[in-house]
Amino acid sequence: MKEIKVNIPGNNYSIFIGKSIYQHLPGIISEFNQNRQAAVISTPPVSGLYLKKVTGVFDRRWKLIHFDVADGEQSKSLETAQKIYTWLIENRFERDSVILALGGGVIGDLAGFVAATYLRGVNLVHLPTSLLAQVDSSIGGKVGVNHALGKNMIGAFYQPKCVVSDISVLSTLAKDEYICGLGEVVKYGIISNKMLFEKIENNFKRLLNFDAELLEEIVLTCAEIKADIVSKDEKESGIRAILNFGHTFGHALETYFQHNDLKHGQAVLLGMKCATFAASKMNLIDPEKVNRISNLIDKFEINLPANSRPLNAERLFKIMQTDKKVKKGKINLILPVAVGRVIIKSVENEKLIAASFNII
Ligand SMILES: NC(=O)c1ccc[n+]([C@@H]2O[C@H](COP(=O)([O-])OP(=O)(O)OC[C@H]3O[C@@H](n4cnc5c(N)ncnc54)[C@H](O)[C@@H]3O)[C@@H](O)[C@H]2O)c1
Ligand SMILES: [Zn+2]
Repeated sequence: MKEIKVNIPGNNYSIFIGKSIYQHLPGIISEFNQNRQAAVISTPPVSGLYLKKVTGVFDRRWKLIHFDVADGEQSKSLETAQKIYTWLIENRFERDSVILALGGGVIGDLAGFVAATYLRGVNLVHLPTSLLAQVDSSIGGKVGVNHALGKNMIGAFYQPKCVVSDISVLSTLAKDEYICGLGEVVKYGIISNKMLFEKIENNFKRLLNFDAELLEEIVLTCAEIKADIVSKDEKESGIRAILNFGHTFGHALETYFQHNDLKHGQAVLLGMKCATFAASKMNLIDPEKVNRISNLIDKFEINLPANSRPLNAERLFKIMQTDKKVKKGKINLILPVAVGRVIIKSVENEKLIAASFNII
């Protein structure tokens, strides 16, 4: 089991990564929890597979309770949070107790939000089970729920006491969910780690076929990168923004295709291709590097829905301007200048941005 430290002032914590590591949970949790009371929040596809693996490692002295929410993004809501609060109060869940968020990013964000707000904050441990959650959403303390008028509109920065990422559970992920996680993995390679990018390039088939050894190395590297970035900029006032590489274009694509036909990670992969094209049009990156990035993204063979071509670049650009990260009409793009390095640049050339959608 490997340990990565996240150094957030006043809230240092560790990320543990390895295969079949839930057995270490009681020991890890006992470091900060005295009353041996824990609530597992999960969702049926995950709890059906892994709840016993988690609860089975605690001895009889522990009081464990468990709550499942319906699977999917619609559970990331105040309504669901409200149900969990009621259940916690009914179960006399106390301030020193610990919430274990067992699931993908939806469960992590929702259970994290509940942990941040119930009794003004109780202990939180993330047990991320999707690749996206292990490399991205469980690290950095962003928790929250959606509002009918917008995604992630209600939330907080709330750091967990620790994150325990068990690589073994990734084997049951649906293929498209796995690809979504890989989209974020490619992102880390392009924004900050050429060696990671090369590892993905050189081992693409092994990675796609779920090679646990390789995956463990990759999850570790990605977690290190994200931990490092959020340690430098917890509240996203500076460098943390580079984590949005591919996301401004990607979010527009997600909205354009109404989220159903194109999943987040797939949209981010395509969004990174658009951003790379924009960078090349601004002469910020060599053509050879542009090809390298595009070729790797093409290997994922993301198919856009039938009859969707030609894309309406103008409409996509309009959607992009409504992104909550676009401030006062200025589009701040994260643009690659090399494999492993990006810059943040305010771009006003609307035509160039819109044209970048045509590359996909
Ligand atoms: N907090 C952050 O910093 C942050 C960052 C990125 C994304 N997010 C949020 O994360 C969410 C997306 O997360 P996600 O992609 O993990 O989606 P998700 O939580 O919906 O999980 C995807 C699917 O895989 C299933 N699943 C999860 N682990 C499994 C396993 N081991 N075996 C079988 N099935 C499994 C889930 O039940 C679900 O059906 C979004 O709500 C997004 O806003 C948050
Ligand atoms: Zn993302």
